[in-house]
Amino acid sequence: MKKLLVTGGAGFIGANFIQKALRERSDIERLVNLDLLTYAGNLENLLPVREDDRYTFVHGDVRDRALVGALFSRYDFDTVVHFAAESHVDRSIVEPALFLSTNVLGTQTLLDAAMARWKTAPDDKYSREYREGVVYLQVSTDEVYGALGETGLFSEESPIAPNSPYSASKAGADLMVRAYHMTYGLPVNITRCSNNFGPYQFPEKLIPLMLHNAEAGRPLPVYGDGMQIRDWLHVSDHCAAIMAVLDRGVRGEVYNIGGGNERANIDIVRLILKELGKSESLIRFVRDRPGHDRRYAIDSRKITAELGWTPACSFERGMRETIAWYLDNPGWVQRVVSGEYMDYYSRMYGGK
Ligand code: NAD
Ligand code: TYD
Repeated sequence: MKKLLVTGGAGFIGANFIQKALRERSDIERLVNLDLLTYAGNLENLLPVREDDRYTFVHGDVRDRALVGALFSRYDFDTVVHFAAESHVDRSIVEPALFLSTNVLGTQTLLDAAMARWKTAPDDKYSREYREGVVYLQVSTDEVYGALGETGLFSEESPIAPNSPYSASKAGADLMVRAYHMTYGLPVNITRCSNNFGPYQFPEKLIPLMLHNAEAGRPLPVYGDGMQIRDWLHVSDHCAAIMAVLDRGVRGEVYNIGGGNERANIDIVRLILKELGKSESLIRFVRDRPGHDRRYAIDSRKITAELGWTPACSFERGMRETIAWYLDNPGWVQRVVSGEYMDYYSRMYGGK
């Protein structure tokens, strides 16, 4: 892990990963962040690393084969961490084609570039030899497994049974990653993590949306009966798990990552209202999301037993810190909600 290509690093988890990696890892020589800056990409999330000499931002699309190939030639990456994606289930319901294009074709473009650059005999279709130490890591989601009933956990062997256009596109991408390993021997890993929370999450997702509305005294839209369950993990623990897989993962393997923090949506909403000292009368039960998965819960025993990863941040501490972060950064929230953050790129990089 010396020369990294990180995609989607201006988004929520990617930005947390880049900050953590550059803060903690002196072995990193170069970290290139390739991001299209869609509505979800915000360069303000990377202000703490902007002056780091090892960090380079490239504004571009993971589906752009010429660009991705040129970056591999220029920077000679040994590691790819692929975060870039369309990531919101509700948006996937109204615009499924975009999810298929970004999430599946974007992944395949990166796989092709990695294979072409890393294979020691690139013209030999039977060769399975790669340069020492290279790895392609696909950041996936527990949602590819579909929904659980009241009991049970998703293991790495659970059937792939996605229910939303988002999760179907992530599953499609995972299957391409698997195929490149099985057919070409590409050294890959897939990580499937549960719902993340923490700083820099776009306020379209449950926790930052509810925080923002509660602060402003606006109604809190809870889908259906609010009894859907998610397994919450602080983003810093997700990033630590990705690093553990990069460092010690067995190539070709899938690793599930979860917090063991199952919470019903309505309980999260009530907790936020309580922490902010706001009334539960702000809660509005609204029409349910079509195809809404009832419950997700992750069995993380494999990554714990084989790679020694365990979550370091409890749900309670993580929520307290996350709420404090949003309250301490009203400017960030305001610029995101107003759309002003979109101008940041031209202000920072205009003319360059
Ligand atoms: P996000 O929506 O906050 O960020 C996505 C980033 O990808 C943005 O910066 C966006 O500009 C960029 N992007 C989108 N299309 C692009 C393209 N064509 N080329 C280059 N960049 C592009 O997402 P997130 O919540 O940070 O999630 C990151 C990854 O982790 C995704 O792959 C997601 O599926 C996965 N994941 C997320 C969660 C979660 O709870 N948020 C849980 C498990 C897995
Ligand atoms: P979300 O943050 O969109 O993540 P995901 O759908 O990937 O799990 O939603 C988390 C849960 O919160 C999900 O069950 C849908 C629910 N939800 C609401 O009830 N109201 C909302 O306004 C949003 C955004 C989500």
